[in-house]
Amino acid sequence: MTCVAPCMTMPCGRKQLLFWVVAALSASAALAAVLIWEHRPAAGRHVLYYVGDAGRGKALFFGEKQCSICHSVGDEGGRIAPDLSQIPPQSPAMGWLTAALWNHAPGMFRRIRRDQAYPQLNSQEMADILAFLYQSATIDRPGDPAAGQKVFEQKGCVQCHSVRSSGGESAPDLSRVAAGDANEWTRAMWNHAQSMVGPVTAKLGAWPQFMGTDMNDLVAYVNEGAPGHRASTAGDSDRGWKVFQAQCIQCHSVRGAGGSLGPELGPDQDLPLTTSQFASVLWNHAPSMLSLSNQKGISPPELGEREMADLAAFLASLRYFEPSGSALVGERIFSQRGCARCHGSSAEGTHDAPSLQATGQAYTAVTLTAALWRHGPRMVDRTEALGIPWPALAPTDLGNLVSFLNQPRRTAQK
Ligand code: HEC
Ligand code: HEC
Ligand code: HEC
Ligand code: HEC
Repeated sequence: MTCVAPCMTMPCGRKQLLFWVVAALSASAALAAVLIWEHRPAAGRHVLYYVGDAGRGKALFFGEKQCSICHSVGDEGGRIAPDLSQIPPQSPAMGWLTAALWNHAPGMFRRIRRDQAYPQLNSQEMADILAFLYQSATIDRPGDPAAGQKVFEQKGCVQCHSVRSSGGESAPDLSRVAAGDANEWTRAMWNHAQSMVGPVTAKLGAWPQFMGTDMNDLVAYVNEGAPGHRASTAGDSDRGWKVFQAQCIQCHSVRGAGGSLGPELGPDQDLPLTTSQFASVLWNHAPSMLSLSNQKGISPPELGEREMADLAAFLASLRYFEPSGSALVGERIFSQRGCARCHGSSAEGTHDAPSLQATGQAYTAVTLTAALWRHGPRMVDRTEALGIPWPALAPTDLGNLVSFLNQPRRTAQK
C-alpha cells in the first residue's frame, strides 16, 4: 500500500516541504507516526512514499520474514544475532536504521545464506519493519534501581521526598508515582517543576540536572518492587500535535513555523528519543522556560493525563522523517564510500554494476533501503571477488544519496 498526503495538519516550511505523511499507529503497537519530508523531486519523476506501520512490521519480523529466528527485540526472539532494540537510536532515524542494516550486511547475509532462504522485502514491508525497529529502539531499557537510589540522594530529592518511607517528609512519598508508566512520570516531573522551581532551587542551591541514564535509573528505583510493570501510555502523534499547538508553539517552532523564544524542535534538531531522556531534557530546561513564560505573560504549559505521551509521540514522529540531503554531498559520498568503484562516479554504470540513474521513479529513503537490501547478498559476493572493502554508510549518508540519485542526469545531456 502506498500513500501520499499533502501538507494538511502540519506547518510546512514555506519553500521546502512537500509532503507530510502521518500514520497514527495503534496503542498496542505504540509508534506514533511517520512524517515524510522531501525536497521537490525532479519534474516528471514521481515519488511514492511508503508509510510504515509498526504493528505490521512486528508481525513481519516475528512471522513471515523470520528475522526473529536470529534476532530478538526486547525479550522475544532468537539469540544468534544482535537484539535489535539495543541499538541506540541516532538522528536522522531513517538513515541510522539503514546504516545499521547495511553496515552489518556482510555478516548477516552470509549467515542467512547458510541457514535459510534470504527474506525478500518489498518497499512497503521495509517501511513497516523500519517503523517497528524504530519504535523498539525508542523504548527505555530497564533502569538500575541501585544507581537510581544514588541519583535520588545526590540530586537532593531525598531532602524533601521519601521512597518507601525512607527520606525527607516535607513532600509526598514518590514510591510508585505513576505506577511505572514512564510518560506519566514525565508528566509528574514536569508539573512538579512548575510549582517547585523556587523552593527546590532555594533548598538545594541550584536546579538539579539529569544526565545520561539518571532519570531512567531513578524511575527504576522509585518503582522497585511494584507489582508488575505497567506498560507506558501509548501516545498518539495527531493528538500530540494539537497539544503542541496549544502549549508549546508560542515559544517553539517546527520547521520554522511557530515562536522563536525557545529553540526550534523540528527534525533537524537532535532531541532525545526515549521517554526518560525526554523527561530529563524537559526537567533540565524547566527554570528557563518558566521564567520566560512569566516574563512574557505566556501561561506555562500544564499537561493533562495522556498529553505527555501524545507530545512525546509527536516529537518522536518528527524525527522519523525522510532525511534531507544534498545532491552535491551525495555525489562525493558515492565516491568516498566506494559505490562509484562499481557503479561509476555519476552512477552511470560500469561492467561491474548497473546504472542507478533514474528509471522513472525517484528513490525515497525507504525504496533505497529496500533496494540496498535486495542488492546486499549479490554485493557481498562481488566485493569479495574484487577484493574491495564493504562500503560502510553513516546515518547522514542516506538523505544525500537519495538526493544524488534523484537529480536530473547531467551525463545524459553531454
Ligand atoms: C540467519 C540469521 C539472520 C536473519 C534471518 C536476519 N538477520 Fe539481521 N543480522 C544477522 C547477523 C549475524 C547480524 C550481525 C552481523 C554483523 O555484525 O556482522 C545481523 C545484523 C542486523 C542489523 C544490524 C544490527 C546492529 O547491531 O546494528 C539489522 C538492523 C538487522 N540485522 C535486521 C534484520 C532484519 C530486519 C531481518 C529480517 C528481514 C534480519 N535482520 C534477518 C543475522 C540475521
Ligand atoms: C524543596 C523540597 C523538594 C525537593 C528538593 C524536591 N521536591 Fe519534588 N516535590 C516537592 C513538593 C512540596 C511536592 C508536592 C507539590 C507538587 O506536586 O509540586 C513535590 C512533588 C514532586 C513530584 C510529583 C508527585 C506526585 O504525586 O505527582 C515528583 C515526581 C517529584 N516531586 C520529584 C522530585 C525529584 C525527582 C526531586 C529531585 C530531583 C525532587 N522532587 C526534589 C518538594 C521537593
Ligand atoms: C514560554 C516559552 C516556552 C514554552 C511555552 C515552552 N518552552 Fe520549551 N523551551 C523554552 C526555552 C527558552 C528553552 C531553552 C531553555 C534552555 O536552553 O535552558 C526551551 C527548551 C525546550 C526543550 C529543549 C530543547 C533542546 O534543544 O535542548 C524542549 C524539548 C522543550 N523546550 C519542549 C517544550 C514543550 C514540549 C513545550 C510544550 C509543552 C514547551 N517546550 C513549551 C521556552 C518555552
Ligand atoms: C562491488 C561492486 C559494488 C559496489 C561497491 C556497490 N554496488 Fe551497488 N550493485 C552492484 C551490482 C553488481 C548490482 C546489481 C546486482 C544486484 O541487483 O544485486 C548493484 C545494484 C545496486 C542497486 C540496485 C538494487 C536494486 O535491486 O534495485 C543499488 C540501489 C545500489 N547497487 C546501490 C549501491 C550503493 C549506494 C553503493 C555504495 C554504498 C553500492 N551500490 C556499491 C555492485 C556494487
